[in-house]
Amino acid sequence: MHARLRLRDLLWLLAALAAIALASLRLDEAARGMQGLAATREARIVTRCAPTPPISGDRDHLLRVVTNLLSNALKHSPPGGTVTLAARTVAEGVEVTVEDEGPGIPAEEAHLLFRPFSRLEGRDGAPSGTGLGLAISRAIVEQHGGRIWVERASPRGARFVLVLPGVPDEPAESHRQVA
Ligand SMILES: Nc1ncnc2c1ncn2[C@@H]1O[C@H](COP(=O)(O)OP(=O)(O)O)[C@@H](O)[C@H]1O
Ligand SMILES: [Mg+2]
Repeated sequence: MHARLRLRDLLWLLAALAAIALASLRLDEAARGMQGLAATREARIVTRCAPTPPISGDRDHLLRVVTNLLSNALKHSPPGGTVTLAARTVAEGVEVTVEDEGPGIPAEEAHLLFRPFSRLEGRDGAPSGTGLGLAISRAIVEQHGGRIWVERASPRGARFVLVLPGVPDEPAESHRQVA
C-alpha cells in the first residue's frame, strides 16, 4: 500500500522540516553575543522571552536581524542604559522587540531608516555605521513573510518590532489521502 501525499500535506511537511524554534535560548544566544559591546557601552541587555511557537526560516539570517537591532540599540544607549530583548506569541505568529533608552527616532523619519544608506543626520557624536543594517534586516524579515517597524518607546528611546508568521498547523487527518 502506498501513502500518497497531497500537495498541501507536502507543503506542510516542508515547512515543518524547515521549522526552527525561536526559543528564548536562541535569543539568549544573540544577547550573549552582544555582551562585549554592552560592556563597552556600560549598558546592559535584559531578555524577556516567553516560549513561542516554531517559525520557519533561516536561523542564521534571523539571528543576524536580532543582532543588528541589539547592536543599534547598544550604540544609541546612554551609559548605564538598559536594552530589552523580548519575544512573545501574537495572533500573526511570533513578535520580537528590541527596546532602548536612547534618543529614539522621530516618527517622520522612522520609515526612511529601512532604506539602504539611510542614517539620521545632525546628531552630535552619532555612532558611525554604513546605514545598511536596517535595510538588510527588513529584506530578511520580508523574505520570511514578516514585518519590521520602529515605534517610540516609553518614556524614551526606540522600540524595533518584528513579527514573523508561525508555521501553519498540521493538516487535519480528514485531509489526508491514502491510496
Ligand atoms: N536604536 C536606535 N536609536 C536611534 N537611532 C537609531 C537606532 N537604530 C538605528 N538608528 C538610526 O538608523 C540609522 C540606520 O541604522 P542602520 O541601518 O543599522 O545603519 P548604521 O547602524 O550602520 O548606521 C542609524 O544610522 C541611526 O541614525
Ligand atoms: Mg546598524
